[in-house]
Amino acid sequence: MTRADQEPAVRCRGLTKHYGSGNERVDALRGVDLDVRIGELLMLVGPSGCGKTTLISIITAILDQDEGTCEVLGRDIGRMTESERTRFRGGAVGFVFQAFNLLPALTAAENVSVPLLVSGVAREVAEKRARSVLEEVGLGARADALPRKLSGGQQQRVAIGRALVHDPKLVVCDEPTSNLDAKTGHEMMDILRGVARASGRTLIVVTHDNRIFSYADRIARMEDGRIVEVGRQGAPS
Ligand SMILES: Nc1ncnc2c1ncn2[C@@H]1O[C@H](COP(=O)(O)OP(=O)(O)O)[C@@H](O)[C@H]1O
Ligand SMILES: [Mg+2]
Repeated sequence: MTRADQEPAVRCRGLTKHYGSGNERVDALRGVDLDVRIGELLMLVGPSGCGKTTLISIITAILDQDEGTCEVLGRDIGRMTESERTRFRGGAVGFVFQAFNLLPALTAAENVSVPLLVSGVAREVAEKRARSVLEEVGLGARADALPRKLSGGQQQRVAIGRALVHDPKLVVCDEPTSNLDAKTGHEMMDILRGVARASGRTLIVVTHDNRIFSYADRIARMEDGRIVEVGRQGAPS
């Protein structure tokens, strides 16, 4: 292993971020320090409004920080140009959202292909890759179904497939199980954890769903714009 391999996947130091100004000003991040190790599944937990979505938006180059540094996969996010940021989001990062955000007129396989098509991959190649990813998340048999014909859990599998189709090194999930029943939530976490263990991918899962805490390698607790504790969570495995 080279030295670079042992660097954390994500290293944040002194990150601050505010929205608005004057009376409307909200200090969403007040100095965040966080390391996420390569290959781990880190859960980011904390009350609504504490800054979780803001933090992962900076880590994934969706938002700019005000102060502090954020290095992701060896790149200093704050120093990237706009086109580098766009390429970084489309290449290095995969996103899974609470609302699955699937395109209703496209089949499961077509939905999963979208990120590849956007980056210029030929349709047949993209479709083939999409089908193999759907196999990986246990949905191979439903590749040609429209989203409305799928259960919530199946739709979330499609969303996970879409997040993985371009083989990102970092996968970020914002409340991935909060619209799912307990059993489906556990299935989803099994898939996500499998994804993390394979191929040294790093996962950050934002959640306040304490039913799934046991899937974390470590849990980072956020309060009022800061990380207040990072701990191991005796995950049964
Ligand atoms: N676009 C925005 N404009 C103004 N305030 C925002 C915006 N996004 C988030 N906030 C505020 O920033 C704080 C942190 O929000 P957020 O990062 O979404 O927290 P969480 O994901 O933990 O619920 C909250 O007070 C929220 O209301
Ligand atoms: Mg949020």
